[in-house]
Amino acid sequence: MNLKQTLRLDAASPADVTRAAACLRAGGLVGFPTETVYGLGADATSGSAVAGIYQAKGRPAFNPLIAHVPDMASALQQGEFFPAALALAKAFWPGPLTLVVPHRGNVCDLARAGLASVGLRIPGSAIARALIAASGRPIAAPSANRSGHVSPASAAHVLDDLDGRIDIVLDGGPCPVGVESTIVACLDDAPVLLRPGGISGEAIEAVLGLPLLAPACGGILAPGQLASHYAPKAFLRLNAMRMEPGEAGLDFAGQLAPSAALGAFLLDLSPGGDLSQAAASLFSWLRALDTAGATGVAVASIPDHGLGAAINDRLVRAAARN
Ligand code: TXA
Ligand code: MG
Repeated sequence: MNLKQTLRLDAASPADVTRAAACLRAGGLVGFPTETVYGLGADATSGSAVAGIYQAKGRPAFNPLIAHVPDMASALQQGEFFPAALALAKAFWPGPLTLVVPHRGNVCDLARAGLASVGLRIPGSAIARALIAASGRPIAAPSANRSGHVSPASAAHVLDDLDGRIDIVLDGGPCPVGVESTIVACLDDAPVLLRPGGISGEAIEAVLGLPLLAPACGGILAPGQLASHYAPKAFLRLNAMRMEPGEAGLDFAGQLAPSAALGAFLLDLSPGGDLSQAAASLFSWLRALDTAGATGVAVASIPDHGLGAAINDRLVRAAARN
């Protein structure tokens, strides 16, 4: 956590955009303007940088984040575009539309909440595109507010919530749209409206020439909703002190009794007990346990403060699903 004062830079100066981009490349947190709301940006390819987003927002759960890219060539490196996705991208990008497509790139597991898909958007703001292009990375960015607060439509709003918790805010003036992007999943040939937003459902249907489906689970995909996360096959036994015979282990800070672990598959989310490192590893390790064929996993207890609350939220959901 960065406790120094947040630097406010004027986005009109190219030098300031360059400086903010260097900060992103170095794993820092940058508030930046988009046409919808200010985003809280971090390098989407870095688990530890993305963990910093959750830490700064004080979010109690991990949602998949939108990866912002500067142009179509970058989008095509990150995702697979079926004809419907291509048509929507052509009609509405750059703009307030996020497309959820199969992931093909290097957006990290934590930014995707472990999913095989990725949410992509080319923002309409030229400042945002210049920043992202200069960073040379896809930029993960939820709205730049503390969890539970309203989305910020100006740099002053960002500082109200996050001053001292992020490195830089790039001031590009007020956001013209003011509501978040519309989210459409294009995972096969039947696009699904996941969140209404800056572009109307009617405008999207006009381009597709067919009606948008509602999510299969009904209603809007709520933040933290189970269906929007990677669900491990293995049975998770939480707050375990030791591994039982036949179990794999998901440890934190070396708590699981070592004698039982001989020859068993054991991963430690953070041997040094760092919650930010644990968050960055969580979805990758869950996937690795599945890949290793684990059917039962002893999960060590995780401290329930800071990012630990989000890790526990995810683990409880994963365990309840069995
Ligand atoms: O306008 C916006 O979209 C703003 C600006 C900063 O771009 N960003 C934003 O991000 O609203 P956020 O984190 O509040 O919304 C991300 C939402 C998630 O809650 C989830 O519903 C959806 O995007 N999402 C992202 N990736 C997804 C995926 N792979 N599958 C399903 N839903 C996904
Ligand atoms: Mg938000």
